[in-house]
Amino acid sequence: MKNKQRKWQKTWAFLLVLSMCLSLWGCGTSKETDLQAENGQAVTQQTTAEQEETEQETTEQIVKYEPTEPKPLDKSAYMDASKDVEERVTELLSQMTLEEKIAQMLQPEQAAVSYADIKQYGIGSVLSGGGSAPASGNTAEDWQMHINNIKQAALESRLGIPVLYGVDAVHGHNNVYGATVYPHNIGLGSANDEELMKRMGEAVAKEVRATGIQWTFAPTLANPQNELWGRTYEGFGEDVELVTRLGAAFVTGLQGEIGTDAYLDDSRILATAKHYIGEGDTYNGINQGDVQMSEEEFDRLLHEELLAPYKAAIEAGARTVMVSFNSVDGLKCHENKHLIMDILKGELGFTGLVISDYNGVQQVSGKNYKEQIANSVNAGVDLLMEPNSWKECMTELKAAVEEGLVSIERIDDAVSRILRVKFEAGLFEEEIGAEEALMADFGSDEHRAIAREAVSKSMVLLKNDTINGKTALENLAECKNILVAGAKADNIGYQCGGWTISWQGSAGNITEGTTILEGLQEVAGDGVTIDYSAEGEVGANHEAVVLVVGENPYAETSGDRSVSSLILPGSDRKVIENVKETAAAVGKEDIPVIVVMVAGRPLTIADQIADFDALVMAWLPGTEGAGVADVLLGDNEFTGTLTYTWPWYASDIVGKLEAENEKNILFKNGSGLRKDGSSINADGTVEIGAAPSQSEEEKEAQSAVGIDLASSGYVLEAENFTSDSYLVKTGNSNNISYVDNWGTEWANAKWEVYVPEEGNYRLHFNIAAAKDSETVAIYYQTPVIEDDGNANRTVVPMTATENMDDFQDFTLDVTLEKGNYQFKFMTDTTDGADFRLDNIKFEYLD
Ligand code: BGC
Repeated sequence: MKNKQRKWQKTWAFLLVLSMCLSLWGCGTSKETDLQAENGQAVTQQTTAEQEETEQETTEQIVKYEPTEPKPLDKSAYMDASKDVEERVTELLSQMTLEEKIAQMLQPEQAAVSYADIKQYGIGSVLSGGGSAPASGNTAEDWQMHINNIKQAALESRLGIPVLYGVDAVHGHNNVYGATVYPHNIGLGSANDEELMKRMGEAVAKEVRATGIQWTFAPTLANPQNELWGRTYEGFGEDVELVTRLGAAFVTGLQGEIGTDAYLDDSRILATAKHYIGEGDTYNGINQGDVQMSEEEFDRLLHEELLAPYKAAIEAGARTVMVSFNSVDGLKCHENKHLIMDILKGELGFTGLVISDYNGVQQVSGKNYKEQIANSVNAGVDLLMEPNSWKECMTELKAAVEEGLVSIERIDDAVSRILRVKFEAGLFEEEIGAEEALMADFGSDEHRAIAREAVSKSMVLLKNDTINGKTALENLAECKNILVAGAKADNIGYQCGGWTISWQGSAGNITEGTTILEGLQEVAGDGVTIDYSAEGEVGANHEAVVLVVGENPYAETSGDRSVSSLILPGSDRKVIENVKETAAAVGKEDIPVIVVMVAGRPLTIADQIADFDALVMAWLPGTEGAGVADVLLGDNEFTGTLTYTWPWYASDIVGKLEAENEKNILFKNGSGLRKDGSSINADGTVEIGAAPSQSEEEKEAQSAVGIDLASSGYVLEAENFTSDSYLVKTGNSNNISYVDNWGTEWANAKWEVYVPEEGNYRLHFNIAAAKDSETVAIYYQTPVIEDDGNANRTVVPMTATENMDDFQDFTLDVTLEKGNYQFKFMTDTTDGADFRLDNIKFEYLD
């Protein structure tokens, strides 16, 4: 694939190894700690020659910074709203010191910055990461109060530049308790309704603005090509045309129609076109991974596809763009000047601000933080989302300017863009407290009605067999006794998915809303009895089963899957079996089983689909479960169609769009049925034949779970981890490859392992450790597709070795069953437990 040798390829070869990982798990819910670690410190390693080259590159052409005195303070010169925006920007810029300019370029996390800091430095922007709520609590009022304090602090700084506050309102104001939560984008793609997107955007904006926030990091404009990717549900669909239309409509909804008075008025918020660019095309669907194309090939893809949604969003008035974590041919977007400067700001003429993603700067090349910052800023990043290291970032960026690594012209350009957006968004005229007027809209019935409509329109009926002359859905409409089955039927957390209250999302009663079960109870006609059984116990009185199954919540990398794990969780497969068995036991094996799938993407259901009489893809509908009921039991007809090509097996994802692979497709893009069994799209007919036969090799690929201990000689080499979350560095010394933990960060490596024989094992951990530690733990969990949280967590009793090249064996005795496991090796705290793990040997005891 790669047809060009580039000097940075070597640097990134190692990152590519990292990105070969398949999936990881989320062990917590606050992005405060988790993301900080996931997107933690840079993992680059450079040779000295390469470092020099980088340095030369950054220094050349830059005229050394000569400090000049800013103009004396005169607020009236830029506070005058009758002046034009560019004039105000120029005036304000001329009154700023270098420190003040740099402070405008920083975006700390709300929990990592004090009001006093904001006032002292004149911080330009603050964010709430996923799951990061005000210390006082998570109600809309808590947010409002906290954000107003932050705003007030910024106004009290010398220049009084208003702060721009950003949040991930990606399906409603989803971090805040009681907000209306809409379907994730994948569902909205199926609804395919631009007018609805606009209404929804407007409603989301009101709830966000009610809490004082003026900016959301949405919409995602990826058109994901590989559903192994944990962020698939954040995209509207695999077709760029759809993404372009819906993305632009949503931007219009959030910001108001460009060219009208509504545009960025007091009830609207700024949108973000993200993540720029190529994230849906990474190798193997790996989050933050690499798009393995040459610059020329990628340029072609950009112009044929990927730029279109960005162009449309910008034309619709989007003023901020977030850079993506992925790399292209090994070069991270965060340091890709061609993509940001030449294409986005040049070719597309984007005059708004470009923000980096969470700690994204720390993933680029550079021998230290200062060089990384310089490389990102020089590539065109204007606002630095450095949530926890913002203070250090300010110091280093200032030093970079003073040392000539970054020109003052680049700084002035970045700051002008930030100020321009603030002026355009009316921040300088914003009155603290004015948002109170919008509070009545927060989580209102009116907004919930829009969400319910969106849910109903996003339902896709993919299978609807005929039973006794009527379709399964027609049968359901006539039933008087319905069993609703499955834990996901009565659980707000499951139906909302990731990015809801917490970053990863979670099961349970996490916010206000209507579960699917409650919705069915509400919508069912008089005389219809709805019973519920989480386990799927069918009774003799039941005439139909509505069985709700799906994925457990996840966000970002922890949602990445391997081809063998893109399946329903074991607990849900068990309920499917239980429904079958218990129905048969009471002589009800012929009653229709209507499966509602709550999931963020197409899954491999080859082994289950024959048991479903009907299949309704409900995606991740959000808080308004009654929208599901409106189509199942109410009068609403199905109008949603699939926006992804759904293969029989996840092993067929690659190449699924090629015509010759049609036989491997279970449901075509565009599929969708009505209750009477007719197809919504002329070419969207759904015919489900038998699963394509798989060769032995293909079967193996489908069920492979990583490393078979029998064939690896009962040794797990540390660097062969199946996936990593948080910070996993690899290194090499004395010809020993190891995974390395920096003492102040979290580490977590995961191996998917097949244990061929049950028994007692002694695990030998070959480790070099800086000090005795009680915080480095191994977790081993089975089966591989379940995340059992902290199951079988055991601390590895390691003590300090002579030095960091002195690898010693530390042992742990465990009992293992035959089968698939995931082994996770991680630090529990950031207490400075430096260690290097070379390998784990499995000694069979008895
Ligand atoms: C995600 C972005 C998000 C940001 C801030 C990152 O991890 O990639 O989509 O906007 O965090 O929470």
